[in-house]
Amino acid sequence: MATLTERWLRPSRPRTHFPQYELGDASIVGMAQARTDTVARIYHKGHEQAWDGRTTLDELVAKHGGIHFPEDKKRAFGKVASVLLWGELAAWSISADLAVKLEDTPAKMAASSQVFDEARHFYVLRDYLWRAGIEVERLGGWSRRLLVELLETDNLLYKVVGMQLLVESTAVVMFRAIADAKIEPVLTELLYYFERDEARHVGLGVLTLPQVLEGLSDRDALALWWFQTRMQLEMIASGFIINPAFLELGIDPAAMNLQGFRYHNEILRRMKKVRPDRGTEQKSIKGLFKLSRAGQDRLQELFFPSKPPSMWQRTLLGAMAAVAERTDRWLAARAPA
Ligand SMILES: [Fe+2]
Ligand SMILES: [Fe+2]
Repeated sequence: MATLTERWLRPSRPRTHFPQYELGDASIVGMAQARTDTVARIYHKGHEQAWDGRTTLDELVAKHGGIHFPEDKKRAFGKVASVLLWGELAAWSISADLAVKLEDTPAKMAASSQVFDEARHFYVLRDYLWRAGIEVERLGGWSRRLLVELLETDNLLYKVVGMQLLVESTAVVMFRAIADAKIEPVLTELLYYFERDEARHVGLGVLTLPQVLEGLSDRDALALWWFQTRMQLEMIASGFIINPAFLELGIDPAAMNLQGFRYHNEILRRMKKVRPDRGTEQKSIKGLFKLSRAGQDRLQELFFPSKPPSMWQRTLLGAMAAVAERTDRWLAARAPA
């Protein structure tokens, strides 16, 4: 029987493992585990916290006497919202794929509840944009590339690391920043619901990954590290494209980036805590992209200088932005019409 890690790296076909009869064993331990499993609790929490998107949106619109989106911010929000909306669509398909392919029942349950959440996020956000009179824009080249990679990979470890740890955590940070900017009251209140759901989706990664990462060979760990690093670079590139829109909305991309680093640290801390018996060896986060506090501070200062940047730094940032824009357009031009 392949190990858990091997099953995540190279999922088998149902013909080799379906059905897993041991799931029906009525052992005392199995029954107790099924009732108390922390991963399965994500599914139950999903039920408890489920909200009806139609009534929630209707009630918020009624409460605030309609949606009055500032005209001068519609265009910028349309750019940000396109990443969020198409990101929700990707998350919907990716979680559905995980629900099909994960064999472990608690993780399968958690992914299944995520499918409902993402479907709701997609239709509610789209409905909001339609009602607010904001045009739904096309996705930028780098953002699309990143999401397509996650949609297409058959490797469940890459899918969960990319989706649950990177995309979901970025979504949490973005939703919070947009809500804090108080651009439009209905949106501000609506995003609270999104954020609470996305935090649960991060939880699926935090709780399931440690056991899988522990079984990684050094070679597979390096491959994972490279996959994640590439995703981070793609995110940096798409950041160059979208950050001007955030600035127009009165949202500081520097503060958001810092928030992202802090959240990333918290995620790693929680993953280490999931299996505290392994002490400082930290096998539970093997292969993950890690950056020391000092490294994070240096990157933060490079991309978002707190003091007026030096000549070389201005040149470097300008060149990176130009490359990001050009390659983004190049990639977008190759996307299907
Ligand atoms: Fe979502
Ligand atoms: Fe999500």
